Amino acid sequence: MTDQRMLTGDRPTGKLHLGHYVGSIANRVQLQHKYETFLIIADLHMLTTKNTREDIAKVSTNARDMVLDSLAAGIDPTRATYYLQSAIPEVTELNALFQNLVTVPRLERVPSLKDMARDAGKEEMPYGLLGYPVLQAADILCVKAHVVPVGKDNHAHVEVTREIARRFNYLYGETFPVPELVESEVPTLVGTDGQGKMSKSIGNVIYLSDSAEDVRKRVAGMYTDPKRIRADIPGTVEGNPVFIYHDVFNDNAAEVADLKERYRAGKVGDVEVKDKLAAAINRFLDPMRERRAHYEEQSGLVDEIIVEGTERTRREVQQVVFEARKAMGLTAAYNQLRRKAERARKSREDTTP
Ligand code: TRP
Repeated sequence: MTDQRMLTGDRPTGKLHLGHYVGSIANRVQLQHKYETFLIIADLHMLTTKNTREDIAKVSTNARDMVLDSLAAGIDPTRATYYLQSAIPEVTELNALFQNLVTVPRLERVPSLKDMARDAGKEEMPYGLLGYPVLQAADILCVKAHVVPVGKDNHAHVEVTREIARRFNYLYGETFPVPELVESEVPTLVGTDGQGKMSKSIGNVIYLSDSAEDVRKRVAGMYTDPKRIRADIPGTVEGNPVFIYHDVFNDNAAEVADLKERYRAGKVGDVEVKDKLAAAINRFLDPMRERRAHYEEQSGLVDEIIVEGTERTRREVQQVVFEARKAMGLTAAYNQLRRKAERARKSREDTTP
């Protein structure tokens, strides 16, 4: 355990699935032992593409589901601090201060923003979405995080954060650490349909909260080698989602090797391959189900974890924003005005009997 801080998180879009686990949660569960951990629930970032009343009405439920899933997955609430971004208004103050440390053309070159605008069906770039990486810099620097583990789509945002930190330090004096990007090692997980990455909007997902029966059904419906119309036809293992999942989730390596060999030789049916996969995924999810039950037993516990984390983080952020304002000379500017105003008031009181 170093005394360095890590910060990462997600927009509150709802329940987590196996793709989230492989892509980021597993990594966080490891890193929480090494760093003091902050996990942001980035609802202000959500607003850059989803800002209807209906979207916003889902924030509390989605935040609760997401936090519960990650606790079930092994995040330890005594090590990690969760916080709701919009409940810390000082973050947006830092965002405002940072907006002048980066140019519009620089932000226009961030590729993920164009993708997000397109995916959200926006014809033109919203101002807030263009500023997405600047707000993210505020998230990261408001707790002076040293490391930021994120997936590929967020790498450019962390790069912008580093530039903002350097620029701030250059203009106003050493204030912020320049945070390191930590790449999540595991690539994206293919969906159960074998078509693209696992994604809620496509529906090709297995949720961490799925029951054993849900898992069996989803696995039974999985895409496999389409050329294999009978069990005695040799099949292709490479790129076959059923075997990709076996490799990732099945703890019984001998069983996986045996299934692959028989699959290639045309000596095993899809049903057996899938039954064993469902059993393996259920073995993998069982400890999460136990932890989930523990958190669900105490009603309101997840809400308390979020609220306490938010309050604790807010106190930290207030400190850091104060430091930033001071470094910039904004505190001094207002203090000068205040002192003069105070003197004026006093001398008026002295002369008027
Ligand atoms: N941009 C992240 C996402 O893709 C969410 C996020 C917001 C974030 N602020 C952050 C991630 C700070 C890491 C650090 O949903």
